Amino acid sequence: MADNRPIGVFDSGLGGLTVVKELVKLLPNENIVYFGDTGRVPYGTRSPQTIEKYALQDERFLLSKGVKLIIAACGTVSAVAAHTGQSLPVPFVEVVSHAAEAAVKATRNGRIGVLATTAAIASGTYTSKILKLMPQSQIISNDCPLFVSLVEAGWIDRNDCVTVETAKRYLQPMIDAKVDTLILGCTHFPVLSDIIKDIMGNSTELVNASRVTAVAAAEYLKNHDMLSDNNGKGIYKYYVSDRTESFYKTASYLLGNPLDGELVHVDIDKY
Ligand code: DGL
Repeated sequence: MADNRPIGVFDSGLGGLTVVKELVKLLPNENIVYFGDTGRVPYGTRSPQTIEKYALQDERFLLSKGVKLIIAACGTVSAVAAHTGQSLPVPFVEVVSHAAEAAVKATRNGRIGVLATTAAIASGTYTSKILKLMPQSQIISNDCPLFVSLVEAGWIDRNDCVTVETAKRYLQPMIDAKVDTLILGCTHFPVLSDIIKDIMGNSTELVNASRVTAVAAAEYLKNHDMLSDNNGKGIYKYYVSDRTESFYKTASYLLGNPLDGELVHVDIDKY
């Protein structure tokens, strides 16, 4: 039976839009409700207790919008607080498991790099998921908190010298370790793919955690007969916990198109 309820997606800020972008390509007629916690970004520098509290509020907010599935489009929540999604009344899709699976499929030399936020790397979740799938793999992790701020600030141009220099410093351990596969394990990072590719070269496979997560969500909905039967284009609603103007501007720049859909402020402390 068709299910015309929207898909719920949340992140600490703009990064989850990289998942929305992939979802729209895969399922153009699905309605989507997005929540970006722009008043409290970044999550990746915070304690597991705070991240868990924020994740629960974000999930409660999306449930109040009548969503049929929730995507934690946030590597940090997925790594630190995925357990919050297990007791929801709707299915929950997170980032880390799908990125780990894709990396294990892609690697040829067993050396896998992980770039994510400080909290996500500190949790060890990426490492344990990869090792479970490929015990002989070698994992090189690096936390890249400045990438989140650079993306939120819109400093994403391929030639932006500050972002390029920052990326060179973060990527040097990956080059030294000769990783052949690199997980962009925070949903803000695919925005910097061109810069990362320029530095790593063509022989490194980049795993876009946002894309694999969107694919997993789309497969879940198909396999469970939960796709919408709406024939037209999906309706998108974006909610943020801070100023809408700055979100609109950076989101449009990041997506390469003016943000398509209603944009509303929400007081997330009420959830
Ligand atoms: N986009 C997020 C992630 O995937 C959050 C980054 C942050 O808020 O620190 O981890």
